[in-house]
Amino acid sequence: MEFRHLGRSGLKVSEISYGNWITHGSQVEEDAAKECVRAALDEGITTFDTADVYAGTKAEEVLGRALKGVRRESLEIFTKVYWPTGSGPNDRGLSRKHITESIHGSLRRLQTDYVDLYQAHRFDYETPLEETLKTFDDLVRQGKVLYVGVSEWTADQIAAALRIADDMGFDRLVSNQPQYSMLWRVIEAEVVPLCEKEGLGQVVWSPIAQGVLTGKYLPGQPPPAGSRATDPTGGGFISRMMDDDLLTRVQQLKPIASDLGLTMAQLAVAWVLQNPNVSSAIVGATRPEQVRDNVGAAGVKLGEDVLARIDEIIGAVAERDPAKTVSPQKRP
Ligand SMILES: NC(=O)c1ccc[n+]([C@@H]2O[C@H](COP(=O)([O-])OP(=O)(O)OC[C@H]3O[C@@H](n4cnc5c(N)ncnc54)[C@H](OP(=O)(O)O)[C@@H]3O)[C@@H](O)[C@H]2O)c1
Repeated sequence: MEFRHLGRSGLKVSEISYGNWITHGSQVEEDAAKECVRAALDEGITTFDTADVYAGTKAEEVLGRALKGVRRESLEIFTKVYWPTGSGPNDRGLSRKHITESIHGSLRRLQTDYVDLYQAHRFDYETPLEETLKTFDDLVRQGKVLYVGVSEWTADQIAAALRIADDMGFDRLVSNQPQYSMLWRVIEAEVVPLCEKEGLGQVVWSPIAQGVLTGKYLPGQPPPAGSRATDPTGGGFISRMMDDDLLTRVQQLKPIASDLGLTMAQLAVAWVLQNPNVSSAIVGATRPEQVRDNVGAAGVKLGEDVLARIDEIIGAVAERDPAKTVSPQKRP
């Protein structure tokens, strides 16, 4: 495993991290979840990403149990707040009340006294930014949170938060967690240039496009049994990419991967890691073999010729519009 700084902070994270969205507490049984976490630790992953909302808070509980007994100082545990965790109007968003209640729930479920990174899971238009940032700053001062970041915020939203933090002396954001893959490049135009200048790192999600970039979904064929596309929850999220033109182009990446001695998953993860503003690529997995496969991307360098060949094949279906970074206008 190789390690990178989380943005300009002093914290080092494994350049491949493990996330448990869709899987823990939902698609996979607890034994499989624990085996994946064990494989991640064995392969040198130290950074684990979850959220209060995943599997209706069950994902944090599973991760807490799976990491029990592991030396806390050897781990970086990331979680998030914003999406609903209950039915009430205050069980969501980035108000002082919900953030304070949510961090306590997360710490209890994760069985830890602090999280290394606490992330605003979307931008909350219904809460003054000062209120959110002051609350985050208080949590840092209380030692419950070591670093703060955001997820899927636009460049303008991140810039506004940095201005307030600098004016008020609040702890600065160190990271953003956006979707990023060969197929989803919307951060490149605005978010990455701002974050490079301001010292935030990207902790990127769905680098394998939820499994699509492994090439296992074949055009014109039903999805393989047990894959995310067949899962009641996951199927909805992946459906946008179940398109024959896109899947045909993905198949054309296979010779590039095999010429390099890489699997398709490794090529996909290595691709996001070529961007120096990426601090870590969060991979998901339903089986330990997938974790071991994906970790093979650590330290891989792709030449300009390879990146150009990938662009020729995928470029026409890759999404690049920065306006695709959106948070709900009203809290969900
Ligand atoms: N901040 C946000 O809003 C946000 C949103 C989404 C995700 N995330 C974070 O990012 C993490 C990763 O997201 P993701 O799970 O979509 O990432 P991903 O790594 O692109 O996709 C993971 C899924 O692809 C399949 N897969 C992975 N490796 C494979 C391999 N080597 N061979 C074959 N299939 C493979 C598995 O599903 P099957 O076996 O079921 O096919 C696996 O669950 C999440 O856990 C979460 O921590 C954050």
